[in-house]
Amino acid sequence: MPESFFILSKDNLELAIDEIIALSKMYDRFSKVKIISNLVIIQSKTNWEKITGRASFVKISGQILRKMSGLFLDEENLGVLKNAKTFVCRIINLSSNQFNIPELESSMGDMISKFSYAKVKLENPDITVYLIFTDEENFFGFSKRVNETNRPIKITKYPHELDWKLTRVMINLIGMKEGETVCDPFCGTGTTLLEAESMGIHGIGFDFDEKMCLISKENLKVNGYKSKVFNSDFQELTKVSQDFDGIVTDLPYGRSSKTSEKPEEILRRFFLILPRRKRIAIMYKKELDDKLKLKGLKKYEIYRHKSLTRTILIK
Ligand SMILES: C[S@@+](CC[C@H](N)C(=O)[O-])C[C@H]1O[C@@H](n2cnc3c(N)ncnc32)[C@H](O)[C@@H]1O
Repeated sequence: MPESFFILSKDNLELAIDEIIALSKMYDRFSKVKIISNLVIIQSKTNWEKITGRASFVKISGQILRKMSGLFLDEENLGVLKNAKTFVCRIINLSSNQFNIPELESSMGDMISKFSYAKVKLENPDITVYLIFTDEENFFGFSKRVNETNRPIKITKYPHELDWKLTRVMINLIGMKEGETVCDPFCGTGTTLLEAESMGIHGIGFDFDEKMCLISKENLKVNGYKSKVFNSDFQELTKVSQDFDGIVTDLPYGRSSKTSEKPEEILRRFFLILPRRKRIAIMYKKELDDKLKLKGLKKYEIYRHKSLTRTILIK
């Protein structure tokens, strides 16, 4: 079974790791996971490019060729360079040892040049060969050049809009698959709907503020996306709950957006109508759930600044 590696950004590391696990299990429920600090190794039928294409916090990823016992590469390991014209070697040192990285990269390049016709190219090569050192074991892997994924365009922004990576991570944490439908009952500028559609997931949005609905619709239209947006209170979602598979939303904070009532009251009312048997990821200001009994649900805390820490809650 192929093994992939993912080096994750250390900001929000727990979220980043859980996102990779959720995506790999979504594509192949028998995937096996190994975590070494911010390195995640996945053994799965699914290709690393598919997971990387959806994930929010991946810095480097690729396929593992083999575990290494020493710094020896031979022809057999370099089949991956067969059709490549250019390559570069990169060392990723997650171990506590110090290495002279430029020297090591260049001697690896020299070693590979003996077996391959491919030429070293430092920028944008066809293949990048990685040597990953950790305190537990070392890996030898590679990645191919991948085209940057197209980000959705947002022509109209608004101060309360949510960061796209946090939005995307919520969609991924609840394992929304291509072809399924997500509902955002507080859709604002449409960030959830845009991220979802960019991953092949359909969307339904609600917002009680007509201006926000217009902004969402404009942002969807410019991308040629087809999510539906309704100008009404979030409670209306109960009437269409058979039409979606999961809810991903960011509740009002009571600052830059209009609110129908106090944010804690909205949260309380929202919990009362949450449909059963739907996957749910919601974000809200941390203190808001103090009075709600939410035992046994997975929560992540996202620090923004000293007066705002947000909770992502997964149900
Ligand atoms: C924090 S914002 C959502 C931002 C959104 N995630 C984005 O990226 O633009 C909360 C939204 O909830 C809407 N809202 C407030 N009360 C509502 C209610 N009772 N029903 C539906 N929407 C409501 C506000 O108009 C606002 O657009």
